[in-house]
Amino acid sequence: MPRMRGGAVYAMCFAILMLFWPTAMGVGAKTSVAQTERIQLDATRAEELAATYGTPLYLYDEAAIRARTRALKDAFAWNPGFREYFAVKATPNPSIIRLLAEEGCGCDCATAPELLLAQACGLTRHDMILTSNDTPAADYRLAAELGAVVNFDAADMPAYWEGHVGALPRTVCCRVNPGGTFEAANGIIGTPEDSKFGMTVPQLRETFAYLRDHGVEEFGVHAFLASNTLGGDYYPRLARQLFELVVDLARDLDIQIGFVDLSGGIGIPYDPADADRANDIAAIGQGVRRAYEDVLVPAGMGDVALYAELGRWLLAPAGALLTRVIHEKETYRRYLGVDACSANLMRPQLYGAYHRIDVLGREDEPALATYNVVGGLCENGDQLAQDRPLPETHPSDLLLIHDVGAHGHSMGYNYNGKLRSAEVLLHADGTSELIRRAERVTDYFATLDATEVGRRALALAARWQGSRAADMSEADARGTAAESEGVVVTSIDNGDSKRKL
Ligand SMILES: Cc1ncc(COP(=O)(O)O)c(C=O)c1O
Repeated sequence: MPRMRGGAVYAMCFAILMLFWPTAMGVGAKTSVAQTERIQLDATRAEELAATYGTPLYLYDEAAIRARTRALKDAFAWNPGFREYFAVKATPNPSIIRLLAEEGCGCDCATAPELLLAQACGLTRHDMILTSNDTPAADYRLAAELGAVVNFDAADMPAYWEGHVGALPRTVCCRVNPGGTFEAANGIIGTPEDSKFGMTVPQLRETFAYLRDHGVEEFGVHAFLASNTLGGDYYPRLARQLFELVVDLARDLDIQIGFVDLSGGIGIPYDPADADRANDIAAIGQGVRRAYEDVLVPAGMGDVALYAELGRWLLAPAGALLTRVIHEKETYRRYLGVDACSANLMRPQLYGAYHRIDVLGREDEPALATYNVVGGLCENGDQLAQDRPLPETHPSDLLLIHDVGAHGHSMGYNYNGKLRSAEVLLHADGTSELIRRAERVTDYFATLDATEVGRRALALAARWQGSRAADMSEADARGTAAESEGVVVTSIDNGDSKRKL
């Protein structure tokens, strides 16, 4: 059979998976990225979701998340110890983490709050890895209490741990940064030398010797040398490099290597122009296997487990941002003003990232107009797309911004008092579930309660929020009503507001 491009392989695999999916999941899915790798949502369903939950709104497709997780596990099934530790930072929502845990995933956490999220989802001990840097002692203490695997980013961290936490755990991982550039077949894809993360190879050697002499019995090596890679080369090359390193370390230091953590970095083709370089996860699994069999097995290390910490590949295509056009404007360009902004999706502003946009209900119309899709921040960089060919689009149209399921909602911020949107999980049976409510203006002001004038702002916000019934989605209205029952504003004048909830 001729080799198919990655995108075509995915499309075929997911189409086959979806044939069987309805039996596994109950009723057939109404929305799925299974065949297309992107959420499919028709205008009618989108209007229903917008009425129920409001816009802007993050949507996640359960069937797609499960299908992608299973495809990853299948690709590495040849390695009995393989496990995905989902990068919590990509989508720190407990409902998503629990869903992934049901599929057998652990969590890669960067901070104490991320560890707490994992703990809340029922994960214990080595279900969690703390891959942190510049780490406060409190985070290490929590990791020790939970029995999480710790991944040291710097050579002096073991001593810091001993000083602030106590004895080192039995299993320890270290993050290595070999420096230089990281090259794949299509050229340089990462510049580890410019990265603040990890320790040099000589430092790793010294740190492992120190750890061995301080009671550590099992060692892991972790590296993340390039981000959002396409073309399928990254993991196999990284694996070969790390396997050669751990063979040397095991021999020279007489230590037991328990696992190699290949971390994240497998990307997705955000821009359809990159579709022919989409990662074929099955081929990646086989590429890593070849390196494993070439390097580790002959060295008698065929029991080393492999870990991944994918965020983007797993979740990004399974998420979309639903937003409504509220204004249009024409000056030197044509602008569509939407109710989302860079505070809801930072990637275009931060990296000039491309996200595909569908105008719902106009999918069959030709993209003859060119728009900049902008939000309402007082920042010219607040442009979710620039010079984008789209069908003629007008206020009240709904747009679906794709591939935001990872590093999307989680990178949100509150500049200009913009509020983070709700998150909704689309279940395989066509039902939907609110998994994070939208922020309210009272949330935005909540931390001002340290001063009298701050408490006054909070009380005014509560009053304004309660008066906005006409603007609210059903979920907002219910939540606000519940909140105002719980908020007792005893006096705006003395600013003494108390929350009962
Ligand atoms: C330590 C670590 N692991 C995993 C990831 C996930 O990377 P990706 O979403 O590119 O797969 C990240 C992302 O920043 C990371 O910092």
